[in-house]
Amino acid sequence: MSSLVNRRVHVAVCGGVAAYKAVETVRLLQKAGAVVQVAMTANAQAFVGPLTFQAITHLPVLTRTLDPSDEMEIGHIAFAQENDVLLVVPASANILAKCAAGIGDEVVSTVLLATRPRRSPVLFAPAMNTAMYENEATQNNLRILRERGYQIVEPDAGALACGAVGPGRLALSEAIVDAVVAALTPRVLVGRRVLVTAGPTREFFDPVRFLSNPSTGKAGFEIAAAAARAGAEVTLIHGPCSLPLPPGVSSVAVTTAIEMHAAVMAHLPGVDVVVMTAAVSDYRARAVSATKVKKLDEVQSLELVRNPDILAELGASRVGASPLLIGFAAESGPPLEYARAKLISKRCDLIVANDITAEGAGFGVDTNRVSLVTAEGIVELPVLSKAAIGERLVVFMAERLAGSPSP
Ligand code: C5P
Repeated sequence: MSSLVNRRVHVAVCGGVAAYKAVETVRLLQKAGAVVQVAMTANAQAFVGPLTFQAITHLPVLTRTLDPSDEMEIGHIAFAQENDVLLVVPASANILAKCAAGIGDEVVSTVLLATRPRRSPVLFAPAMNTAMYENEATQNNLRILRERGYQIVEPDAGALACGAVGPGRLALSEAIVDAVVAALTPRVLVGRRVLVTAGPTREFFDPVRFLSNPSTGKAGFEIAAAAARAGAEVTLIHGPCSLPLPPGVSSVAVTTAIEMHAAVMAHLPGVDVVVMTAAVSDYRARAVSATKVKKLDEVQSLELVRNPDILAELGASRVGASPLLIGFAAESGPPLEYARAKLISKRCDLIVANDITAEGAGFGVDTNRVSLVTAEGIVELPVLSKAAIGERLVVFMAERLAGSPSP
């Protein structure tokens, strides 16, 4: 999940069983760094008390319009307009209809009437009974809202609280937060193609054993997600990873370094940027046994041969500055000298260097502390989430690509 640090997210909660799920959504928004304030319809308050939201947001909850004390705390116009994004969760069929018709008869509909969805994003996450969702009136209202610039986080299909089975179940909180992040991301990579590699490779030396490393692929998946949010067409070539595929990203699963090499070369034509985050095994077994290797002597040796260095090959074969090449240098110790050497030897535009032994850095954790090493110099970043590092790299890509025509 990506960073929403200090972004003001206003959440309007409507009536429905799914209202309780809005509590989790608010928590996730906060976890991503957002400052959240909540408004509730009277019906929503029948399902969850305003005190719950007040307790977790530490801010007053807007429950009424034209109420002197509520309007003193935050007026409905301010709630509608003084935010980075407004999220309606769960959005009932009723609120969609009122917003489409321009009705403002209670707090949330009045707030919506005061929004300008093309100026600052407004998202609806609908949840309702399948028949209500599929009703022509609701579908018509959704179409009208989309045309006016409102964004819809599509509901999932499944078993609903009312007993129906079908579309209408509130999207997962993670998906709703992803949509909020996407709505706030500048689309600086529209028309660009980005190829990201991620995760480990496995080099089998018999049918059940392999050489590998503890890479989880987290950094690469976050970079792919950030590039997709910025509008790029992203291909993620990954070794064995157990992470969910980021939305809007196409993926190619590989196992060995040789397979990763072949996949990268096959997808290279037309690519603007290659980001090699994969922890590619430098060696593979010279011979792979067709049967499981038996225990024999106390000491057993395994002969290894070098794998292709994908990044070095891309650097050596590229024409001019295309594609933009970003490599990673994970070292167990101060990495900057190695990173500088790698920048030159692999002919990259950027090496993202990190010391995997440092606190808050390395394999499997959500954060990293990296330095950006370019021909112009070194920028040392603080400990950041891997998602925030992905966003930082998107800025680098956009800056470097500015001025170069998209294919
Ligand atoms: O030389 P070193 O392995 O430290 O370089 C790391 C960078 O090179 C990473 O970007 C990694 O993805 C890439 N690499 C590669 N092919 C290899 C080994 C590393 O592309 N066989």
